[in-house]
Amino acid sequence: MPSMPYRTAPAPFASSPAPFSQTARALEPAGEAAGFGVYIHWPFCASKCPYCDFNSHVRAGGPDEPRFLRAFLAELQHWAELAPDREVTSVFFGGGTPSLMSPQTVGAILERVHASWPVRADVEVTLEANPSSVEAGRFRGYRAAGVNRVSLGVQSLDDAALGMLGRRHTAGEALAAIEVARATFARYSFDMIYARPGQTMAAWREELGRALTLAARHLSLYQLTIEPDTPFAALQARGKLRVPDGGAAHDLYALAQDLTGAAGLPAYEISNHAAPGDECRHNLTYWRYGEYAGVGPGAHGRVVADGMRRATSAERQPELWLERVAATGHGMVESLALRPTEQADEALLMGLRLTAGLDLGRLAAVSGLRPRAGAVDELVALGLLQRGGTSRVRASPAGRLVLNEVVLRLACALEPATERPRAGVTGS
Ligand SMILES: C[S@@+](CC[C@H](N)C(=O)[O-])C[C@H]1O[C@@H](n2cnc3c(N)ncnc32)[C@H](O)[C@@H]1O
Ligand code: SF4
Repeated sequence: MPSMPYRTAPAPFASSPAPFSQTARALEPAGEAAGFGVYIHWPFCASKCPYCDFNSHVRAGGPDEPRFLRAFLAELQHWAELAPDREVTSVFFGGGTPSLMSPQTVGAILERVHASWPVRADVEVTLEANPSSVEAGRFRGYRAAGVNRVSLGVQSLDDAALGMLGRRHTAGEALAAIEVARATFARYSFDMIYARPGQTMAAWREELGRALTLAARHLSLYQLTIEPDTPFAALQARGKLRVPDGGAAHDLYALAQDLTGAAGLPAYEISNHAAPGDECRHNLTYWRYGEYAGVGPGAHGRVVADGMRRATSAERQPELWLERVAATGHGMVESLALRPTEQADEALLMGLRLTAGLDLGRLAAVSGLRPRAGAVDELVALGLLQRGGTSRVRASPAGRLVLNEVVLRLACALEPATERPRAGVTGS
């Protein structure tokens, strides 16, 4: 995860409620629909990996799955009222470890999604799975329930590295899980973590080369990030864990770009690689700044309601979330109306992660703002930004290495767009 970590449900910017109503609406330019996604967060794992700061918890004996299912169904009902009449383009079961859910639970959630919204005929339904929780029967059960894509947390093909990462599976189990995924689903992806302590260029070249022979049409490569308050952060503070520094990490990243590009899986986002047309549609909704329901403990959502784009987040602690849902029908603890500048910041930050960049016309339509032409020209002159077509901008390879700086410069140069946000246009 270089510079900005992957989050299946991206964290919102810190923001306070806007004291005014504004009329920003989601608007889709032709050919780049952002879609409407439903994110379901299963917050449990068999054990906690020492690098991970996702909202994941371990429960001896496992959680009360029927009780959680009832709460998921109730929260979906709430979301259906909050964001009616959308057409669902993707559903994503993330975690935690959603492959610890029974296929029946997954099926019941998908049934409720279908009962709550129109669902596109070619809807993408992804489930994240840990290799150690994969068995063929369970995968066939997910397929029968309506899942049509899996994303496996392989992380490494090296047993010593898997041990260092605190994973519960071996490389052999990861290979077996990839085989089951390949045999069961037309679309599958897997995650690898690189820039691990002591990882050399030669070792990464060999490991990624093997991964590319196993990958189908999508692969995620995350640079190891030392997250605050994790066991890895404590080890690093005591000098017992050293990850490759900036230059070495960049070389590993650059090698990954070369190898994946040569294998026909170029990056379409900082950490995500796909054959053209096989990008993860659900994550594209986040990066194109579309709307999504965030269901489950700690899940984030974005919805345009009453003329305002809202950032929602749910109670993180699973049992407290259950109590809230039982009491109020949902576990949401925040629903903040985003100011135009906050929306523009978010849209820039998300959109510039994409290799294709973002459309400044869409930015204007969503937020009423666009960066001053002079600021864009400066970044182009510095070789950090590229223009494409009449209103598209994207980070250059050099710009991707300093993406936060590029976003900051554009965000500081926002001004009212002549093209005003169009009232009355419903969200994606
Ligand atoms: C929610 S986790 C995925 C699913 C599953 N629980 C698993 O671990 O296999 C999503 C992905 O984020 C990546 N990830 C999590 N924490 C990370 C970190 N600190 N540095 C780099 N990658 C990380 C891992 O590749 C992981 O597969
Ligand atoms: S299995 Fe995945 S979500 Fe769970 S602790 Fe490990 S990395 Fe985090």
